[in-house]
Amino acid sequence: MDGHPISLRGVVKTFGEGQAAVHALRGINLDVAAGEMFLLIGPSGCGKTTLISIIAGILRQDAGEVRLFGEDLRRLSAGAQADFRARNVGFVFQQYNLVPTLTAQENVALTLMIGGMPRRLAMGRAAEALFDVEMSDRLEAMPNTLSGGQQQRIAIARAIVHDPRILVCDEPTSALDHEKGRQVMEILRAIAIRPGRALMVVTHDNRVYDYSDRIASMQDGHIIRMVRRRFTTPEPDAADALHANAPL
Ligand SMILES: Nc1ncnc2c1ncn2[C@@H]1O[C@H](COP(=O)(O)OP(=O)(O)OP(=O)(O)O)[C@@H](O)[C@H]1O
Ligand SMILES: [Mg+2]
Repeated sequence: MDGHPISLRGVVKTFGEGQAAVHALRGINLDVAAGEMFLLIGPSGCGKTTLISIIAGILRQDAGEVRLFGEDLRRLSAGAQADFRARNVGFVFQQYNLVPTLTAQENVALTLMIGGMPRRLAMGRAAEALFDVEMSDRLEAMPNTLSGGQQQRIAIARAIVHDPRILVCDEPTSALDHEKGRQVMEILRAIAIRPGRALMVVTHDNRVYDYSDRIASMQDGHIIRMVRRRFTTPEPDAADALHANAPL
């Protein structure tokens, strides 16, 4: 497989019909490069969650093309699509969506066990992912006994436990104070910005802009502006100059 981790051409999504139709995406073109941390920003209702849900395969576009590592998933059978996504994509939901009756470790292991991995192995992998998000001391905790930031980190561990090459996160810092928000972004960057990986983060939180390579601004189903914050291949002088002039 080759091509960008994420590549979209003319992606359209409409909810409802006729008078009630909501045009959530009106023709999105986008390439996210390997090693890049890409932010998607814009006002409530502009289509951010819809867009990353389509990338993650939770929703299907009405028109246009979505390629992940050059693969147009519509050409694969339903089973092969599910398998491709399960191996390659991790998704952190806007709400954490943790299972309240399972421990932190079981929540993270669940995805692997659903995929057929034996419990003992899955629990081991889950412990490793929870270590990566600095939650090793709370493996046995139930979600309702944890803070918002801790639950968010479990949700991240669950999204990375199968070592996906594409990680998409919907508002991963919105419930967190400044320091915790920075910690989560540091963790995400360290995990995702490795060769052949890509990270896309939806956020309202301008405190996290500094962690990004590029920022796309959405409005009413369109991408209206793209700003490069940093070069993926560091060129310090040019990058600093751009950074200083960035209009965001
Ligand atoms: N399942 C659905 N059925 C009908 N309309 C929907 C559905 N999901 C989203 N929409 C509509 O599509 C538009 C885009 O929604 P989306 O959730 O993508 O926005 P968003 O940018 O993520 O907003 P927020 O910042 O509030 O999370 C909104 O007008 C929303 O009401
Ligand atoms: Mg949203």
